[in-house]
Amino acid sequence: MRLADCRRIFPDIDALNAAAAARWVGIAQAAIEARGICHVVLAGGSTPRALYEMLAGPTWRGHIDWSRTQIWFGDERPVPPEHPDSNYRMAREAMLAQLAVPPDNIHRIEAERDPVSAARDYAARIAELLHPPHGYPPRFDLVLLGLGPDGHIASLFPGTPLLDEKSAWVGACEVSQLGVWRISMTLPVLDAARHLLLLTAGEGKAAIVHELVSGDVTGRVRYPVELLRPAGEFEWLLDRAAAGSAADC
Ligand code: 6PG
Repeated sequence: MRLADCRRIFPDIDALNAAAAARWVGIAQAAIEARGICHVVLAGGSTPRALYEMLAGPTWRGHIDWSRTQIWFGDERPVPPEHPDSNYRMAREAMLAQLAVPPDNIHRIEAERDPVSAARDYAARIAELLHPPHGYPPRFDLVLLGLGPDGHIASLFPGTPLLDEKSAWVGACEVSQLGVWRISMTLPVLDAARHLLLLTAGEGKAAIVHELVSGDVTGRVRYPVELLRPAGEFEWLLDRAAAGSAADC
């Protein structure tokens, strides 16, 4: 998979979010029709906030059966749920508090606890509800990912041991560049998704996007996002500001 070949570039963040919302609606309707439930993994950070607000708004909210939606989190910072840095808090404020998602369908990572045991318990919760065949990772219907300026996805940062995790579904590790622990879903889980949407917006990402799209002549992997090997559908949604000169590649 070449990242550059998976790009969909939009004039601005509103157009990008409308496209992402439409994909979520289509994926959710197909999942609920096929399996009676849609399991969605939310991305954290700041980029997805406007998408979540859009989905909770009058244009989109009625197109998704929120009572049959299970909400999961791809990663979490080591803070309590009410902390300003919490990915759970961001999603709750932007979307979940406005929607009729049953509280039992919202699965927060308890990152205020010991990170290793919180990661283990989160994986156990995933197993309980998605119960994949023995030896296989869970298949979420939709996984949303953001992209860090260093090419990280979820909380899989350059140079951290979680990048090499091939069996655990959720892990915790210290991210020395941040000086904190993070909890994150691992590559086997992200790769197993039926649909992976990578959302990238703003000129602050133009440099990493250009790096990724122009590639490395040796073909070596330089950034965590380049480790993705999606088994399902993968789309990279960017706005023009992030796509920058890469759009001409
Ligand atoms: C997090 C996210 C992380 C995020 C990227 C991009 O917890 O921070 O899960 O992977 O998606 O860092 O963040 P922005 O969208 O804020 O640029």
